[in-house]
Amino acid sequence: MPVPEPGYNIDALRRRIPLLASCIPFNNCSQGPQTDATRAAAEQYLESWNRTGMDWEAWIEEVRLAKVAFAALIGASPEDIAVFSSVSEAMSAVASALDFSGKRRRVVLSEIEFPTTGHIWLAQQRRGARVSWVAQHNGVIETSEYEAAIDDDTALVAACHGYFLNGFTQDLSAIVQRAHAHDALVFADAYQTVGTQPIDVRETGVDFLASGTLKYLMGVPGIAFLYVRPELVNSLEPSVTGWFGRSNPFSFDIKGLTWSEGASRFDSGTPPIINAYIGRAGMEMIAGIGVGKIRAWHEVLAARLRDGGRERGLTQHGTTDLARKTANTAFVVNDSHAIEQAMRARGVLPSARGPVIRLSPHFYNTLDDIDTALDLLAELTRGERA
Ligand SMILES: Cc1ncc(COP(=O)(O)O)c(C=O)c1O
Repeated sequence: MPVPEPGYNIDALRRRIPLLASCIPFNNCSQGPQTDATRAAAEQYLESWNRTGMDWEAWIEEVRLAKVAFAALIGASPEDIAVFSSVSEAMSAVASALDFSGKRRRVVLSEIEFPTTGHIWLAQQRRGARVSWVAQHNGVIETSEYEAAIDDDTALVAACHGYFLNGFTQDLSAIVQRAHAHDALVFADAYQTVGTQPIDVRETGVDFLASGTLKYLMGVPGIAFLYVRPELVNSLEPSVTGWFGRSNPFSFDIKGLTWSEGASRFDSGTPPIINAYIGRAGMEMIAGIGVGKIRAWHEVLAARLRDGGRERGLTQHGTTDLARKTANTAFVVNDSHAIEQAMRARGVLPSARGPVIRLSPHFYNTLDDIDTALDLLAELTRGERA
């Protein structure tokens, strides 16, 4: 059998990631490594600031271009994208636009959401929301489980696209179909999937989709994007707002709460400028490689992780069905944080979460990287498993 290869020049891309000279990053589910492009983008902002003192026109244009780059990755138009500093902030703004004072007050959450999702919608109970949970079983949820949870009193379903713990992915279209049958909205948290597989918000029909850039988009903390379905957006008036959400922020009209057309009504204060520079560079690199090609390589890496883990006696968390997961592969260990430290000391960067060590490769990882990480994990957990 020929050794599988990615559909792009992996060696050339690897040369653009200085960190690879000293270690093997496997923590894209948490923070992707720096590239020559993201470094240059940060320096471009610093240079602009230093040279001009301030250049708001260019800086705000950079935020617009970051929206353009994010929109392209999810099949949306730039006008359908708002900018925030975190996914939590984006989700809170959406929550603030919903009315829970009537009959429609149920919010359906899955147990595999990132904790922030639970916190945000539980906090809405004070405004009348009632949270219901869709149960997970061994790190997986069957879409049919949403059926029983959604009813005509449901205002919104919050469903992650990819589970942060083990990479399990949910079928967003199927969830949307069930929710829309009851006129309920769907908020998709795609932080763990944008940049790892093709996503088309129009095809799935989601009402909201959010992600930041620091994981598989190779960016930094401090910037996140929210897609709002254009047919819906102008009916929403978030109370988490600010002057950038106005139809003309630069009119400086303190008494006029004019709503901008489109998703920019969800923009609030001065946007995260340096983060937009870096985030755009990361997103454009991913788009340049091609998300379809990245997904194809991720499947090869995920198969190596699954099969190699099994051969070494490691226990994988969640589904082993590669069609239902990202390349992020979690192995159950006793003390995940101690294992993470020990792996780091030996030049491999995994990510510990609760009961698991996550190995989340990306486009630049090789099959040798996988074998090295699995050998090390197996060695370090041998004592635990004996
Ligand atoms: C799936 C998912 N959602 C949300 C978050 C948190 O996003 P933020 O810190 O931007 O609110 C994370 C971060 O790890 C995540 O993995």
